[in-house]
Amino acid sequence: MKHIHKQTPLYDALEAYRNENPISCHVPGHKNGTVFQEKGKLIFQQLLQIDATEVEGLDDLHAPEGAILEAQQLLAQLYNAQKSYFLVNGSTCGNLAMILGNCREGDIVLVQRNCHKSVLHALTLAKATPIFLRTNINEEWGTAEGISVSTVQKALQAYPKTKAIILTYPSYYGIGDNIEAIISLAHKNHVTVLVDEAHGAHFIGREPFLKSSLAYGADYVVQSAHKTLPAMTMGSYLHVNHAVNNYRHVEMYLQMLQSSSPSYPIMASLDLARSYLGTLTDEDLLYTKTTIEEFKRELNEISGIRVLQHKKNSYDILKVTVQIDDAYTGHQLQSALQRYGIYSELADMKNVLLVLPILKVGQTFSYDRIVSGMKDAVSLLKKINKEKQVRPTMLDEVEELTELELSFEEMLNRETKSVPFFQAIDCIIAETIVPYPPGIPYMMKGEKITKKKIANLEQMIQSGTKFHSSSCLDERNIIVYV
Ligand SMILES: Cc1ncc(COP(=O)(O)O)c(C=O)c1O
Repeated sequence: MKHIHKQTPLYDALEAYRNENPISCHVPGHKNGTVFQEKGKLIFQQLLQIDATEVEGLDDLHAPEGAILEAQQLLAQLYNAQKSYFLVNGSTCGNLAMILGNCREGDIVLVQRNCHKSVLHALTLAKATPIFLRTNINEEWGTAEGISVSTVQKALQAYPKTKAIILTYPSYYGIGDNIEAIISLAHKNHVTVLVDEAHGAHFIGREPFLKSSLAYGADYVVQSAHKTLPAMTMGSYLHVNHAVNNYRHVEMYLQMLQSSSPSYPIMASLDLARSYLGTLTDEDLLYTKTTIEEFKRELNEISGIRVLQHKKNSYDILKVTVQIDDAYTGHQLQSALQRYGIYSELADMKNVLLVLPILKVGQTFSYDRIVSGMKDAVSLLKKINKEKQVRPTMLDEVEELTELELSFEEMLNRETKSVPFFQAIDCIIAETIVPYPPGIPYMMKGEKITKKKIANLEQMIQSGTKFHSSSCLDERNIIVYV
């Protein structure tokens, strides 16, 4: 198996092409990097030499029969999938294709509430009827975990015509609860299982990583290779499991949604990332694990800093959630860390999330610098904020199962208006409010606005949360249906 994964057919084809010193009389306009704005030439040039197009020997993502086909076959082999695809537009595109290919207008679809916005966009395009399933929250840390099996059971009883379930595994914070039991329950009820595994591209069934939901029988799985593997941004994978009979529709949507000029550097990096993962030795995996454990231990020793210790085994070791003592928010810690050149994945009201790399024996990462930067950041915060602040708490109470008040079709036909927060209570929200990162909708377009939601929104704004939404939240306005 390790041998096979030394192969990198697409990368090799590109390297061979570059070595020919080819003259490009075709797109793209940079002509293999020879024509480029001087200012950026030095940085871009190497990569532009493989930023090719579908010329002889380089295959075609939309009709693969050569190097891309071989590379995708190796990918399927590593994850034990029936078929695997390279995605050049992120898991966003994978989620759209997976959901549009499986859900039709009016279909009832169970959706883990802490889903990425691309899941909601796909459901909107499909005009499906989502039923949102409450996500468990770690009360002490405020982080999203999985969903309870009993919640899925209740939903399947309440909605016996459910067509599909869309799960997010693991959560942004790396928690992967109950996935096996949920997949099995869904299949017993003839429900198709679609998994957004954006944060789990390294789950190939080897310790110390979690298993992929593919291994538990999920029908379709989307992974952002660029999130946890050494792959270029936007590079992702979509896998189809062996039990799926017909994936024609998903493939059709991939053709519609992906560019007809997919990026060869991104695809080559996907080929290399698969090879990197497939050639990890047991020693590499142990090395990755022990360096992370040592790093966490050092962080925990910093006065005022705590590292989330998961009670369960189902968490991803590459995700490290750090909390500073009660006086400060995660956003404050994140900004302080940036002063020392340390950029984290996300901050929320309580925590800062770090995403760590998979290392091979002998490779190093800047763990020492992060530890010393963390110490400096804590001292800085304590100096600046002499007064203890009260950290806002999220008092949200989401019901176990929630429906939208309007169908996606009705939403399209209704007028909207912008109103101040205090006038919005009991109205139906006409925009989705997404704290970013992590990109999980807090208020779903089509839901009723409650007093509590407005109060929590106010707290999030005050604590520095950034949002993707069209309204002027800073001015305390929100868009509602008339
Ligand atoms: C759970 C989840 N799904 C999907 C996505 C979208 O992934 P991509 O950036 O690869 O399009 C993200 C991005 O943050 C995510 O967190």
